Amino acid sequence: MFDAFISMATTSAAGNGRVLSFPPQFLWGTGTSPTQVEGHITNEWTHHVARDGRTCHPACDSYHRYPEDIEWMVRLGVKGYRMGIEWSRLQAGPCGPLNQAELARYLDQLDRLQAAGITPMVVLHHFSNPLWIIGNGGWENPATVGMFVDYVSKLAAALRSRVRLWNTFNEPDTYASCSYLIGEFPPENKWRFLAYRRVIRNMAAAHVRSCRLLRQLGSEQGPVEVGFSKNWTSFVAYHGWSPWDRLIAFLSHEIFNRFVLRSFLGAGARDVATFLGVNYYGRVRYQHTRPLIPTFGFSRARLARMGVICDDMFERDPAGMEGTLLALQTKYKLPIYVTEHGSASTDEAFRERDLTENLSALHRAMQRGVEVRGFFYWSLLDNFEWQFGYAKKFGLVAVDFTDPRLPRTMKPMGRFYGQICRDNAVGR
Ligand code: FCB
Repeated sequence: MFDAFISMATTSAAGNGRVLSFPPQFLWGTGTSPTQVEGHITNEWTHHVARDGRTCHPACDSYHRYPEDIEWMVRLGVKGYRMGIEWSRLQAGPCGPLNQAELARYLDQLDRLQAAGITPMVVLHHFSNPLWIIGNGGWENPATVGMFVDYVSKLAAALRSRVRLWNTFNEPDTYASCSYLIGEFPPENKWRFLAYRRVIRNMAAAHVRSCRLLRQLGSEQGPVEVGFSKNWTSFVAYHGWSPWDRLIAFLSHEIFNRFVLRSFLGAGARDVATFLGVNYYGRVRYQHTRPLIPTFGFSRARLARMGVICDDMFERDPAGMEGTLLALQTKYKLPIYVTEHGSASTDEAFRERDLTENLSALHRAMQRGVEVRGFFYWSLLDNFEWQFGYAKKFGLVAVDFTDPRLPRTMKPMGRFYGQICRDNAVGR
């Protein structure tokens, strides 16, 4: 079955180059998260002012406009949607009943997706929490684990007729490091390493319990698939001879990658998940102990002169996608979904090239035996990019945030990705 799956990632010659075909059941999708698109939200982000002076309200107002967003997905031709459900909307306190009106809105969203032939992957935690969880110590407090599992058990029971793909935690490493190490997410704490460790450990415990529960409960849609999403960044010294940069790269890898993977996939935890989600954007290289990325104050042009090719956020490293997928599957032997990949730029040609290169690397990994089941482009819409606000343009579909009606328009990148989804191939 596994061999049959991978052998269908094929390469063939076409008029102007090679065509990379994907297996027929490969799931082409896109994604968003509640705080970034919904608006009208009450969680720790509500009053957080981003670097552009704005907040997550009303974001893309997808809270009201989700039917229209689904129409955009149909126009794009995607078959999968990785979407979050916002805990703070559904429970007003520890172990409380689910808010029926809010639940009904999500059920309607799921029904409309189904009617459109789009498979949802539901993310249970994407960088946001109810205020009563935050007031109780957030994920530093082990009591949060039980409260989350209670929420998941109620939500899963309500959604089992509609959902079979579950993503427990999105990038616990990003959440814990931005909140407790570098002070970029609420509560904006810095260098609290013990808090970071506690948060990761508690999230991993909640992940394990949630996986068991979701699999036990099953789904009317078919076999349940569940996993968490790891943000994969490689850390490298810009000059191999610099001991400090090598040390920082080594420590970053230990803290952000190895420790998190051990917590979520070590000692028996691996067997509770059915897949590993990988969010892949690129890498970070250090020079004089500073990360060479645009969000650290370097211009893209200056970085390019140093051979560091970036979008508005990260250094791109398409070739690294192949090795990363191969290494992760060799080690953990779980099927993989690339749950996020995308680029932020207003240069659409750059984005198209970047996607082609990354998908080519993904395809090479599949031809080398990695079982990748799907790919979700980040993101459906331009949206609220956390600490950076609305300046980072990751969307397949543009949103005009200067117009109160928040009109959406298809971008060249949307047409380009839509073609790949419809062809089930790159380069046709
Ligand atoms: C990931 C997040 C996602 C978005 C992209 C650009 O780290 O999961 O919400 O911010 O980066």
